[in-house]
Amino acid sequence: MTLNPESRWFGNQPVEEDEKTRLVHGVFTNVAAKYDLMNDVMSGGLHRLWKRRFIKTVRPKAGQQCLDVAGGTGDIAFGLFEESCRKAHVTVCDLTPSMVEVGRDRAINKGIIKGIDWTVGNAEDLPFEDNSFDHYTIAFGLRNVTRIDNALHEAYRVLKPGGRFYCLEFSQPVVPMLEKIYDAYSFHIIPKMGQLIAQDKESYQYLVESIRQFPNQEKLKMRLQSAGFSKPAYTDFTFGIVALHQGLKA
Ligand SMILES: C[S@@+](CC[C@H](N)C(=O)[O-])C[C@H]1O[C@@H](n2cnc3c(N)ncnc32)[C@H](O)[C@@H]1O
Repeated sequence: MTLNPESRWFGNQPVEEDEKTRLVHGVFTNVAAKYDLMNDVMSGGLHRLWKRRFIKTVRPKAGQQCLDVAGGTGDIAFGLFEESCRKAHVTVCDLTPSMVEVGRDRAINKGIIKGIDWTVGNAEDLPFEDNSFDHYTIAFGLRNVTRIDNALHEAYRVLKPGGRFYCLEFSQPVVPMLEKIYDAYSFHIIPKMGQLIAQDKESYQYLVESIRQFPNQEKLKMRLQSAGFSKPAYTDFTFGIVALHQGLKA
């Protein structure tokens, strides 16, 4: 299997690998301030249900170490922390400082001073020791990473033996009729909403296009296996608009 086939595509635009990371960083720097609002508007609030289900699947226990990569403004980190009754430790690691700053401010507003750490770093080269975490989560992040296979190998490296990988990401709808409606909505409505609400059509055009470049459920499952994960499996949410992938570091 060729490694990282998506690395030279920024949405539908061909780019050099290093340029892709820089462009993705630019997108999230631009959208950080309006990111949470746009998520609610674009998904009609559905992203909250998907994230809730994701967090319930991870279910961290007291004393466990969680790493939320591409954690952005912190939805998953807050959810994991509360799910453990504030007794697990969560480390957020994200490429874009502006996203992390929004997350940190939200944590302060929620009165969460201890228990969640915020770091800037690249999923492809994580600034953590081998065998450090019980859970690795990445939600709506993996499709933005330039070299997906490198990120999967890094996930495997930083997990403890027995640790689990969880990815929530847009995927391939399994109902053909739904796919047509979803495509029309994604390509015609979302960039316009981006322009109206965030004054940024291009970033939202990229976000929509990047969904189509991302490997489908079966392909991502195989790539988890190639990265070393045992028992790779996935569950479709909302007819495959989103999928939750899991793997175990045996
Ligand atoms: C769509 S947001 C998802 C944020 C959050 N996980 C959520 O579900 O709301 C994608 C995030 O991935 C981050 N990101 C993109 N490439 C990354 C990389 N190579 N390493 C770490 N984070 C990355 C972006 O900065 C952005 O915050």
